[in-house]
Amino acid sequence: MADTEELKETKEYFLATPARHEGFFLKGSHQLDWGMRNRLARIFRPESARTVMLAIDHGYFLGPTTGLERVDMTIVPLLKYADALMCTRGILRSTIPSSFANGVVMRSSGGASTLREMSNERIAVDIDDALRMNVSAMAVQVFIGAEFETQTVHNMTQLVDLGLRYGIPTMGVTAVGKDMVRDARYLGLASRICAELGAHIVKTYYCEPGFETVTAACPVPIVMAGGKKLPEFEALTMAYKAVTQGASGVDMGRNIFQSAAPEAMIQAVGKVVHELMPPKQAYDCYLTLKSEQEKARR
Ligand code: 5RP
Repeated sequence: MADTEELKETKEYFLATPARHEGFFLKGSHQLDWGMRNRLARIFRPESARTVMLAIDHGYFLGPTTGLERVDMTIVPLLKYADALMCTRGILRSTIPSSFANGVVMRSSGGASTLREMSNERIAVDIDDALRMNVSAMAVQVFIGAEFETQTVHNMTQLVDLGLRYGIPTMGVTAVGKDMVRDARYLGLASRICAELGAHIVKTYYCEPGFETVTAACPVPIVMAGGKKLPEFEALTMAYKAVTQGASGVDMGRNIFQSAAPEAMIQAVGKVVHELMPPKQAYDCYLTLKSEQEKARR
């Protein structure tokens, strides 16, 4: 039993001070419930309202992608620089240390490989398992304009409903089919559809011109998808343009883990995303870190 002897009786109610009610730092998220916001705050840094999300979910349709053959060797050392990790439950459970305390965005759709029609995806995770793994968000691919458009939109709305029941946000990933053009009109359409139908975060590609119209018309945070491997300077430039045109960070995979120096690259991306460091300076930072890391390995 608790010791009740000599309890302090003096109280301080701060009667002259109204109760504090703080807003929430993230676009379009201020009216969400506490659990949702807490999970979002594990993905996006409150100081910058942006995130460096490391995407390593490629294996769910591509198998052992270059750079991801041994996640324990190549990705685990990068985790300390990632605000959030986007991965499948298979990799999370088998390979990611459970001490990883930042956001986990779990790939929650699947069912197609590169050998078949890519848009034929379904929900591939039970909400119970997402809860069991304490994920910060679930990610689902949405193929606007593709053969299985309606099915993939329905996958997303189902996950949104399940997630709302338990306080888990959903990230809609706008997948661009072979026949689509990655322009502001298409990406704006796809992103807005995801947000209108309940996505709490939207992942979409950078485009020129007009990316700022894509972010402006999307009422929830957009994270920029990395896409195919580019030279490091170009990738840093694209990230800089995206965040200065309204993206709430990046969700990059190949441009980090297929870089000549992944550890230096993820740190340089972090400078761009959180400090809005201009690309030239961030690239110099990448080169310096790269040579330091090479020296340390010798
Ligand atoms: C597909 C995805 C990916 O599986 C992955 O996250 C892509 O990352 P990147 O293009 O940066 O390598 O979301 O749409």
